[in-house]
Amino acid sequence: MSVPDRYVVVGNPIQHSKSPDIHARFARQTDQHLVYERLLAPLEGFSSTMQAFVAGGGKGANVTVPFKVDAYHYATALTERAQAAGAVNTLKMEGATILGDNTDGVGLVTDIEQNARVSLAGKRILLLGAGGAARGVILPLLTERPAELIIANRTFSKAAELARHFSQLGSVVQACEFSAIDRPFDVIINATSASLAAEVPPVPAVAFAGQSLAYDMMYAKEPTPFLQFALRQGAGIRDGLGMLVEQAAESFFLWRGVRPDTSPVYQELSSIL
Ligand code: ATR
Repeated sequence: MSVPDRYVVVGNPIQHSKSPDIHARFARQTDQHLVYERLLAPLEGFSSTMQAFVAGGGKGANVTVPFKVDAYHYATALTERAQAAGAVNTLKMEGATILGDNTDGVGLVTDIEQNARVSLAGKRILLLGAGGAARGVILPLLTERPAELIIANRTFSKAAELARHFSQLGSVVQACEFSAIDRPFDVIINATSASLAAEVPPVPAVAFAGQSLAYDMMYAKEPTPFLQFALRQGAGIRDGLGMLVEQAAESFFLWRGVRPDTSPVYQELSSIL
């Protein structure tokens, strides 16, 4: 049998990444002949690590914390959504070209629309956070034509800057102070890193209604403190495991031209978490 194509997920740390488990399942399901491994890069050594991987015939990589901006600069060509995100989570080696893409936002949108079955068209979306994770999902959210997209951030100036940047694409984007939030939203997305510190961003309870979907881009065994807060306000909740599986499927499709069925992989993953 021929040598399998090689893929990696690059990060630091990397040992807890679920991506190899997901891609191994996709490959089995779609009969693709490939290997997918974890690759630890030194904090100052992303590009040398990638150069060695490419020189060894590597076909593609997922990129995770803290290298998504390094990957953006490392790529020699960018998709529109990677350009808008200012960050790359997927690299595809195509001869001399290293294509940088970002599948995080489309992963989020697919998880909300197809798995949670909440259409974003005409909806009012509140996005919490203004760092790389938030920026990465704005263009794909806008593509679904929400009625409005409000960005709230602890450091207001960063939210204002992001809103200004994206308002070229749609005037529905605005920034808001947490304290100025005074009405419910249809979808509230936590793109802050507060869950990592078991904290809740200072979003007022009034942002949630019985029909709201609260989405945390992080996932854990138990609902994050943000999701627990949303539950107490009567909102529906969903964590970022679905987004993780969907962004992986989009990367897999970019590399292999085959779209895996994500639902059995999501089920298996959530049962072993
Ligand atoms: P990432 O790549 O995960 O987005 P980042 O660029 O460091 O990481 O951004 C972290 C985001 O989480 C920021 O929006 C940050 O708010 P500030 O800009 O005010 O720092 C937000 N954040 C982190 N911890 C938070 C907390 N406890 N409450 C509210 N926001 C928090």
